[in-house]
Amino acid sequence: MTVEKVGVAVVGAGLVGAGWAVVFARAGHPVRIYDEVASVRDGVMALIAANVRDLKKFDLINENPDVVLARIAICTSLADAVADVGYVQESVFETVAVKTKIYAALDSCVPAGVPIGSSSSGIPASAFTELCATRERMLIAHPVNPPYLVPLVELVPAPWTDPKQVDAVFALMTAVGQAPVRIRHEVEGFVLNRLQGALLNEAWALFEEGAASAEDIDKTISVGLGLRWSFMGPFETIDLNAPAGVADYAKRLGPLYHSVAQSRTLPKAWSADLIAKVEGERREKLSAADLDQRRAWRDRRLMALAAHKKKATKELGS
Ligand SMILES: NC(=O)c1ccc[n+]([C@@H]2O[C@H](COP(=O)([O-])OP(=O)(O)OC[C@H]3O[C@@H](n4cnc5c(N)ncnc54)[C@H](O)[C@@H]3O)[C@@H](O)[C@H]2O)c1
Repeated sequence: MTVEKVGVAVVGAGLVGAGWAVVFARAGHPVRIYDEVASVRDGVMALIAANVRDLKKFDLINENPDVVLARIAICTSLADAVADVGYVQESVFETVAVKTKIYAALDSCVPAGVPIGSSSSGIPASAFTELCATRERMLIAHPVNPPYLVPLVELVPAPWTDPKQVDAVFALMTAVGQAPVRIRHEVEGFVLNRLQGALLNEAWALFEEGAASAEDIDKTISVGLGLRWSFMGPFETIDLNAPAGVADYAKRLGPLYHSVAQSRTLPKAWSADLIAKVEGERREKLSAADLDQRRAWRDRRLMALAAHKKKATKELGS
């Protein structure tokens, strides 16, 4: 596969598949979408159109939205969607059974040598590609939602994935403006959800102990740690937070973090009672009826942040 404007098939057109279509189409690739549910196929273009028009409003695409949208076609069969494409992005339901079934079909109908990336959030590719005859071109390409606003993509090979296929997907993702990272081997939750899980588990534990309200725990991230995290990760953060860098930081604060880790040696499931308490606090702040409105607000904030990051990277470097 070259990084020309190859055709891309998006298989599964829910929240994430619709987002992927925007990623590839705005980068100039012809996109063919297939979903097995007719009502999803009928409704997805309206959602995509609204997202592309929002991107234009925030100056995140140069082209006229109609030019971007004209690159996207909806197909009523899987075979039509994948014929002649140079890459397939699968985004069907997150179950081993559903993924296994679609990979059996993709195995035989996707042109030879074309890589197939799965949006899987945590199921490793080895769990659903083992029996495929062409399994060496299958890997995880896990995005963050929505992928056209959050560029990270985790590339995770199965033990049998050809490294050249990982390189090809890395090159394609970079060319379309995403930010791929290579996860060297399969690990449950990959890297993103393991990091998110560590933070979430600690947040639930602190709430359960009554150390702070859910609102104040959230604030600690949104107006605290999160500000730096939007442009640097935890290692670079601590490298800059001690006069002589990361080793100096580890000398000063390593014992504190070790002691904190020792205080959490028995991981606990999030209990029904605990979930109900957090749910209660959240629903007081935001009624269930307003969740969609707040999601739209979140996406507009993300667009504003993406626009700011684009400008700041140009002016200040990355
Ligand atoms: N939602 C997120 O925040 C998020 C983020 C990253 C990755 N993911 C992953 O992306 C994948 C899709 O998630 P989603 O949130 O878009 O789910 P979703 O439920 O919104 O969409 C899944 C779509 O797949 C379709 N589908 C199911 N089986 C199919 C088949 N055999 N052929 C064609 N279409 C089929 C369904 O009709 C549905 O429209 C999952 O693996 C998920 O874990 C989700």
